Amino acid sequence: MIENNKTKTIGLNIESLVLNMTLEEKVSIIHASLKFESGGVKRLGIDNLVVSDGPHGIRPELIPDIIEFVQANRDDDFSVYLPTELALASTWNSEYAYEFGKTLGLEARNRGKEVLLGPGMNIIRTPLNGRNFEYMSEDPFLTKSLAVRYIHGVQDQGIAACAKHLVANNQECERFTISAEMDERTLQEIYLPAFKASVIKGGVKSIMGAYNQFRGQYCCHNDYILNRILKEKWGFEGFVMSDWNGTHDTIESGNNGLDLEMGTEQDWNNYYMANPLIEAVENKEVSMSKIDDKVSRILKVMSFVRNFDVSTLETLDTKKHDNFALKVARESIVLLKNDNQILPLKPFSVKSVLVVGANATRKHAIEGGSSQVKARYEVTPLEGIQNRFEGTEVIYCAGYSEDENDDAALLRQEAVNAAKHADVVIVVGGLNHTAHDREYIDRVDMNLPYGQDDLIEAVVEVNSNMVVAIVAGTPNNMNRWIDKTPAVIQSWYNGMEGGNALAEILLGKVNPSGKLTITFPKELKDSPAHTSAKSYPGVDGQVFYEEGIFVGYRHYDFNEVKPQFCFGHGLSYTSFEYSNLKVSKSKLSSESDSINVTFNIENTGGVAGAEISQLYIMSINSRVKKAVKELKGFSKVSLGPNEIEEINLSVGLEDFQHFDESKNEWMHETGSYEIVIGSSVEKVHLSVAVEVS
Ligand code: BGC
Repeated sequence: MIENNKTKTIGLNIESLVLNMTLEEKVSIIHASLKFESGGVKRLGIDNLVVSDGPHGIRPELIPDIIEFVQANRDDDFSVYLPTELALASTWNSEYAYEFGKTLGLEARNRGKEVLLGPGMNIIRTPLNGRNFEYMSEDPFLTKSLAVRYIHGVQDQGIAACAKHLVANNQECERFTISAEMDERTLQEIYLPAFKASVIKGGVKSIMGAYNQFRGQYCCHNDYILNRILKEKWGFEGFVMSDWNGTHDTIESGNNGLDLEMGTEQDWNNYYMANPLIEAVENKEVSMSKIDDKVSRILKVMSFVRNFDVSTLETLDTKKHDNFALKVARESIVLLKNDNQILPLKPFSVKSVLVVGANATRKHAIEGGSSQVKARYEVTPLEGIQNRFEGTEVIYCAGYSEDENDDAALLRQEAVNAAKHADVVIVVGGLNHTAHDREYIDRVDMNLPYGQDDLIEAVVEVNSNMVVAIVAGTPNNMNRWIDKTPAVIQSWYNGMEGGNALAEILLGKVNPSGKLTITFPKELKDSPAHTSAKSYPGVDGQVFYEEGIFVGYRHYDFNEVKPQFCFGHGLSYTSFEYSNLKVSKSKLSSESDSINVTFNIENTGGVAGAEISQLYIMSINSRVKKAVKELKGFSKVSLGPNEIEEINLSVGLEDFQHFDESKNEWMHETGSYEIVIGSSVEKVHLSVAVEVS
């Protein structure tokens, strides 16, 4: 039985609690008193609210009262290390998104945490963003669908989730100051939907403001985003917390919708929402009712967490959680390329495997920034291959090094020599959380570092029986070798069981079923955010989202730019056939109306597998400039050989809408549309015409 938090309770009558508080007591609740705790009110039995990162594990304990992020070196703060959010999203498995949240919720509760700082749901705008691995997709529909399930999973354990970072925190470069500038339609159609759904469908209890500014005002106290949209329009009833040290002004924080100021500076009483706020209230610059509102919002969440009936919860079973990490990892891996069906490897013909690459032996959990995890264990790709390749000789060669003092040419030559004698070579390369996929910095380009292009080219020249497996949380330029290497796998930062999952995929013990939730461009300049310095990384403190709504596949599709691998792409060891598309009606005529869409998928290959089908809406002869296709539904189904299943999806009027700036509201165009079903955004199998009247 879970013990923590049982002792913490709070009176249910929030109104009378607030009435009983002095201004000083109220203010103590709405700013940090430790690195990951708000203040409480001892006199009224209100304990500090305890929050914790993060999106794919429960962060290790840190020394709570110093500015620096230093681990407390405890031996009771290990956590499940789940595949990071981009990997989770690549499963397209909504049930996993729920289970993901549930796993984290249970572990958070067991560690005495009350608010889990996740899910991250910023839209992936550029391949360079250092935190792409913490987010889900370039597509708002997919992001919101998975984020809502994640939130339910967390909150069903009586732990508050925190949707972050609102809004437009799409780059780490100048993240503390940059102002994101975009038109209203882009904001509403691309960058807000996941947050909106988190509030309206997810019932999320807390939201974190982004570090950056939006249209010239800091997101943590941005009147338009927090007051007008989040609280007034969407009716958000939870609380808004700042990102750590993301607050910059007392009056604005008092009035513009921020409810809890968090940070790391120990001078807690001088926080913007501490003594200076008391002064501002006394000077009538911020009203008492604003303060009461903030306090009530936080108390309501405390009450949710502390009065939750824990007897309904599953007993914490870490084995089950570790096993869940394996399940997600198996489904997240994307088979990008598999010429001549070189994969899966045939165990009997493979007597020796050469594993090459620093990422074959590297562990990633503890790095990356706030999402760091002290994993109970982490199986590297090399260990996974050693575990699963029974009866095969496994040889390892570094091939390249992250340390530039090492002799790159020598390492490469060693790998080439060994490759000549191996039946199969598996190069495990990519990025890491020290230099690339991490908080606070963006990458400078999209290239694989440490001479990996040279290495891959040299190895494939002596042994074409080779597989490249990329461990990274963002796309890389593969131009130099993509046409020469027969098989390429994207393996993400795949959690504590990532190595075992990769080995199972290589051997065909698991049939790959992940698909890309972001487009992999051929080169950086093809990416929609990279048309000018204004557009990325920004000039003079402002970044202009010049591509507007044409983010990700919306751009590649509309502007006919061929990517390396498109949105929704992912191969399998079996094949699927799509047939028999039917719609329940061909005309949508009212707001409550919906169209049921059914079609069949058949596994026409020789092995069991899972297929992710995608429903896109295309508008025909639209008067408004729109994306060619927009994702509005998806399904994942597992099928044995020759098995056939009917897929059911449904679309409603909102799926046909766009945001009309002149009217400042969501509108639909009457006319013709097509519902298309694809196995990726490029591979369309079925389509049917419908009308909106
Ligand atoms: C990150 C947040 C995180 C917070 C607390 C910040 O640097 O942007 O995502 O939750 O730190 O660790």
